[in-house]
Amino acid sequence: MRRSRITGTGSAVPEKILTNVDLEKIVDTTDEWITTRTGMKERHIAAEGEYTSTLATRAARQAMEMAGVAPDELDLIVLASVTPDFPFPATACIVQHNLGAVNAAAFDISAACSGFLYGLSVVDNFMKAGSVKKALVIGAEVLSRIVDWTDRNTCVLFGDGAGAVVLESAEGDRGILSTHIHSDGSYWELLNQPACGSRNPASQKIIDERLMFLRMQGNDVFKLAVRAMEDAALEALAANNLQTTDIDLFIPHQANRRIIDAIGKRLKLNEEQVCVNLERYGNTSAASIPIALDEANRAGRITDENVIVLDAFGGGLTWAAILLRW
Ligand code: ACO
Repeated sequence: MRRSRITGTGSAVPEKILTNVDLEKIVDTTDEWITTRTGMKERHIAAEGEYTSTLATRAARQAMEMAGVAPDELDLIVLASVTPDFPFPATACIVQHNLGAVNAAAFDISAACSGFLYGLSVVDNFMKAGSVKKALVIGAEVLSRIVDWTDRNTCVLFGDGAGAVVLESAEGDRGILSTHIHSDGSYWELLNQPACGSRNPASQKIIDERLMFLRMQGNDVFKLAVRAMEDAALEALAANNLQTTDIDLFIPHQANRRIIDAIGKRLKLNEEQVCVNLERYGNTSAASIPIALDEANRAGRITDENVIVLDAFGGGLTWAAILLRW
């Protein structure tokens, strides 16, 4: 049986750190509120001249180095982001150029915080079909550029960063065992960036009404996220005849410590099973799962044959789970 196996991981975040205490000077908030309501303590913020493609390229190079894969060996680059360098061309094409991956097709995926798992799912299907042997899947965001720094409801939540994996088609039982992606567009208004697309093109009115910035009805999103992520994780386990006790590492999207704790409780996971790093990065949307995966991998938290569940939720609404054997 051929499976898509992760052979390398990488991640990159900007140097600049913005702490909760720094945020107290920007909006009417406190370290105490942010810590207790979200679990976040600090996030990384891109410098001038640092773009989504910059972070994505750094993360990709690390993943390729670990995998021992040269740029010209790549058949495909898929990049998930809600903050691409431009509406077009695809940021994946810019990364392809930066890497010199001359044989790779490259395109972007828009599925908000679920984007990296959507990307893995798409590439897994290319590999099952036999048309792709080696690929890069990247989640990369510079959310600080679409966050409204006058809105305390959202600006404290997000950070910048990128994570990447090399996927290779390989014989054996290890690799992605199943992917499960879902959407419900009836909730699209809960979480969006109103302007900068065809519905609200650039104008003075857009700037005056601050429609170019991300908007979120956090409370509604919270409740939907817990239920959808629990359902997706259980769906992935059932598809593989596994129980929650079989999970060696559960890597959820890092949106809020309380969301992660609620899912962990519902799935009866213990603390060692669950990967949490949002206290240092905030919510990096499509980048959050690959950054956490890379950190766990480099920290030696993952060993061969481990059962790993990746679980995401985001704007769209979209949600997804992927179960893999390392
Ligand atoms: N500092 C101080 N007070 C604040 C802040 C802040 N930074 N932000 C909000 N408040 C206030 C609100 O104004 C409100 O005050 P009020 O009662 O006087 O109106 C109060 O705190 C409570 O606000 P809630 O929105 O009810 O707070 P909640 O406990 O729901 O936490 C949060 C808000 C953190 C946004 C939470 O709802 C959440 O994490 N939601 C899910 C986010 C998510 O999962 N997003 C999906 C992925 S993101 C993507 O796809 C790009």
